[in-house]
Parts: sequence; structure tokens; C-alpha cells
Amino acid sequence: MAESAIIRTVAEVMSSPAVTADADDTVERAATAMQSAGVGSVVVVDGTTPIGILTERDMVGFGASGKDPSSELVSTWMTADPDCCRNDEDVVKAFARLSEHGYRHIPVVDDDGSLEGIVSMRDLMRIARIEPVDAPGAMEAPKGLAGVIVAETEVGDVRGLEGFYHYRQYSATELAEKRSLEDVWHLMFYGELPTPAERAAFDERVRTLRVLPPSVSGLLPAIAAAGDTFVPLDALRTAVSLVAAVGDMKASLDISSDELRDDAMVVCAVIPTLIMALYRLRQGLEPIEPHPELGYAANYLYMLTGEVPDPDSARGVEQYQITTIDHGFNASTFTARVITSTGADLGSAVVGGIGALSGPLHGGAPSRALDMLDAIGTPADADAWVRNAVESGDRIMGFGHRVYKTDDPRSVLLKSVALRLGGPMADFATQVERTVVEVLAELKPGRELYANVEFYAGVVMDRCGLPRDLFTPTFASSRVIGWCANILEQAADNRIIRPSARYVGPPPPVPVPDAG
Ligand SMILES: CC(C)(COP(=O)(O)OP(=O)(O)OC[C@H]1O[C@@H](n2cnc3c(N)ncnc32)[C@H](O)[C@@H]1OP(=O)(O)O)[C@@H](O)C(=O)NCCC(=O)NCCS
Repeated sequence: MAESAIIRTVAEVMSSPAVTADADDTVERAATAMQSAGVGSVVVVDGTTPIGILTERDMVGFGASGKDPSSELVSTWMTADPDCCRNDEDVVKAFARLSEHGYRHIPVVDDDGSLEGIVSMRDLMRIARIEPVDAPGAMEAPKGLAGVIVAETEVGDVRGLEGFYHYRQYSATELAEKRSLEDVWHLMFYGELPTPAERAAFDERVRTLRVLPPSVSGLLPAIAAAGDTFVPLDALRTAVSLVAAVGDMKASLDISSDELRDDAMVVCAVIPTLIMALYRLRQGLEPIEPHPELGYAANYLYMLTGEVPDPDSARGVEQYQITTIDHGFNASTFTARVITSTGADLGSAVVGGIGALSGPLHGGAPSRALDMLDAIGTPADADAWVRNAVESGDRIMGFGHRVYKTDDPRSVLLKSVALRLGGPMADFATQVERTVVEVLAELKPGRELYANVEFYAGVVMDRCGLPRDLFTPTFASSRVIGWCANILEQAADNRIIRPSARYVGPPPPVPVPDAG
């Protein structure tokens, strides 16, 4: 592989010429140059030699200082003696330096140190893929594996620049508009939407499987009572492990694809029941048995209160759940696939997926966006609140995405659901969204920050009667279907996922000192 790796130089990906300014230019002039060229930085030069760099990040700091941009000089605000890279430097090395130092832009110079252009993190992310290192056949991936293709999949994909994602060959949001969760679940497991006869059989099977066996329900009170603080997702993780043990789930390596899919059906069907039973038990209430007549989402809400929910709320939750079934090779999906690649049982892979989802950087807390709306209070206060937050370096919850640099299609769909359901929170949220997008465009120009899935998810779930601490478990209740589709695919064409790391500690071997 090393021989076939394509190494590209920085010169191939840089923007040239770079936008420049002189040290004695005013900040205003530099900002205008940046804005009119639509770039995130200016290189400050003395002749053709870079002597500094002024980035949008510096401009935000400047904005917060309240100083006058028409009199302040670039030399005061720039970062002097910027790190530069040579035009013939390998893109992967340049990428590593940018990531290591947290730079977003590096000026590019030629042999004589004259400015040739500028290269941004984004330019490199598009290109940086692999790098041959000393070990024969080894390749080096960027930190976080960003942009690295590690598998082939027929489950689905995300096209960030287009604001589009799909399950199999269908748009995920169109599925959420037109189909039930059970239909989409069938699509994920069998590769096809069900025929009417298949639907009837599938729905019936799910309704049977969602009833907990006594050997599981009998132990739930102990799980619900564990710990001083009840974290619903942690309780769910423990209960799923119990379900796998009670169901004698075998190593995926040792069973057929049909048997593995049977295990997946069991786990996906019982997760909503487990979430609600544990939640109620912790509140000192009896769990509510699944309703034999209700569909997946309506039953989910029913098991919370014992009341059959209104169809609009049930559909709102169902549409949220459909939009969150799968989303490319995200961290929890990858985790589930890594565990499956060892030949482990399906329960282990799902427990691992829940563990990955519990991290704030992934499943996070859709409730944080709602907490922010509470903190803002009224539409009139939104602008000042958001401005103050961004200028103090805080992130606005529910905005921005690693992959989407345009509207997140999940947010677009959930916004329409929120508006359909109505209520004061939905109107308030749309006003806040508008303000946040405007303020972020002004204070973080070029970053393309829009509402992500979390912003309207909280509004929808709240309107449908779900308490905030059940938001992330509700995410898990549907994402488990995506994990299982990936687990089935991984097991069907498996090779253990076992990458390497580069050792960067003290050079070995150092003699082991005597114990003394
Ligand atoms: C989702 C998220 C982690 C993606 O991060 P990312 O792709 O790594 O983006 P980066 O951290 O590189 O940010 C790029 C720039 O946009 C800014 N930015 C990104 N999201 C922002 C937000 N929500 N509010 C304010 N600024 C934001 C960053 O400060 C950074 O600015 P800089 O260039 O001046 O340093 C990030 O947008 C975020 O933290 N959002 C808020 C939390 C959230 O909503 N999470 C749920 C995701 S579904």
C-alpha cells in the first residue's frame, strides 16, 4: 500500500495568492480585505516575507475589545512570526502540524521564504488521507480518523456539503415524512421496505418481542435503584447487557446471519420498554406493560404515562426517531462495528454503542439546546445573549456540525415537525434560530454554522411530553436500529478491525531500574 499512497504537496492544495496586509495597515482595512476575498485570514508581509498572520479568531477578540478598527494597527493584533510551511511540504505533515498547534491557516513559502499562498485546515482535510511511515505497508491517518474510509457499507451515508443523508437508497428525511418507524427498521435490517404482508408480520413480531421476559423485568428494580444519581442511559446500558445474557446471545462468529438478526430484533424491540420501565421504577412507579395495539412511537410515550398519546405527539416522536436511526460512520456505529469485528455477541456491540453515545461529544445532551432557550428567556434578549456567549468563547448549543456546512437536513425536518405541533416554544425557537445564524455569520464568518439536529429535537420531544433526561435515551432507542444494521453488515463480511499506533514515548529499550 505504501507505494500506491498518493502524496500531494501543499502547493497543490493551497490558495494562491494569499490575501495580504502590511503591519501598519489598519485593522479595518485588513478586515475588509478578508471579507471581500471571503477568506478567514490575512498574511501580514514585509515585502514578500510573512511576518504575521491575522485571523478571524483574532478579529473576534478585537471585536470584544471595543477598540476602533479605523485607527488600530494590524501589527498590534496579528500573531507575529507565524509558522509557515514550504510549498513542497507533504500535505499530511502540514495537516499534522495544523492539528497539533490548533492552527486554522498556515502561510506557504518558497525556498527563499517568499510568500506563495496560504493553506487552511479545511483544504488539508479534503486531501489528507494517508501517509507512508517507516513501517512497511503502514499508512498514517489524521487524528480522529477524519475523512478516512474504513469500510464499505450499503446501510447509508451522509453528504455534508449537500445537506443530505440517506438510509439505503432513500432520503432519510423523506422516509421520516412518509413511513412508519417499523417500515424503516425493516428497510435497515432487510435492505427493502416491507410489502403490506411483510409489514403486518414485522409489526406483529415487534409487538411480541417488546414484552420483557420475567427474568429481565425481575432484575430491573435493582438496576433502577443503583447509584445516588440516576443516569437513564447508564441504566439502559446495564439492562441491555442483562437482556443479552438472559437471551444467551452467542458470539457473532459462531452463529448464522439469521440468528444474529434475531438477536438484533430482540434488542431493538426491548430497548424502549427498558428505558421507560427503568425511568418509572426510579421514580417509585410501577412499569407499564407495552400496549399491544400501539405502534412503536405511540407505545413509547404510552409506557411513560399509561395514557394513549395523541396521534400528533406520537408522530412527532416517531419522526424524530426515524431521523436519528443512522448517520454515517459516527463514533457509536464505528464502536459497534469494531466490537462485532472481534466476533463478539450482538449484546456486547450494542452496549459498546450506548457507551460511545453517552459521551457529550456524540450523543451529548439534546436538552442543552432547550436549556439555552430557557436561559435566553425572550426573543428580544436573544441577540445580546448570543453575542455575549460567542464573544466570551462559548459555543451555541445546537449549532454547527462537523459534516454539514449547510442546513442540517434533520434540523430542517424537525423544525417543520415543531411548527406543525405548534406551541410557544416552537415559535420562540425559530426566532432564536434566526438570530443565532445571523450573529454567528457576523462573528464567525465563513464557518457556515447552522442549526443542527439537537436544536429542534429538544423542542419536538418537549412538546410531545418527554422529560429532558429521556432525550438521549430516546436518541438511543432509534439509533440502536442503525447500530444493528451495521453490526449485521460487519458480521456478514468481517475482518477484525485492528489498526496501529505510532509510539512517541521515550526511546526503548531503557534498562528497567532495580526495585531497590
Ligand atoms: C458540532 C461541533 C462539535 C462541530 O465541531 P467542528 O466541526 O470540530 O468545528 P470546529 O470546532 O472546528 O469549529 C469551527 C469554528 O466554528 C466555531 N463554532 C463551531 N460551532 C460553534 C457554535 N455552536 N457556536 C459558536 N461557534 C462555533 C468554532 O469556534 C470555530 O471557530 P474558530 O475557527 O474561530 O476557532 C461544533 O459545531 C459545536 O461544538 N457545536 C455546539 C455543540 C452541539 O450543538 N453539538 C451537537 C452536535 S449534533
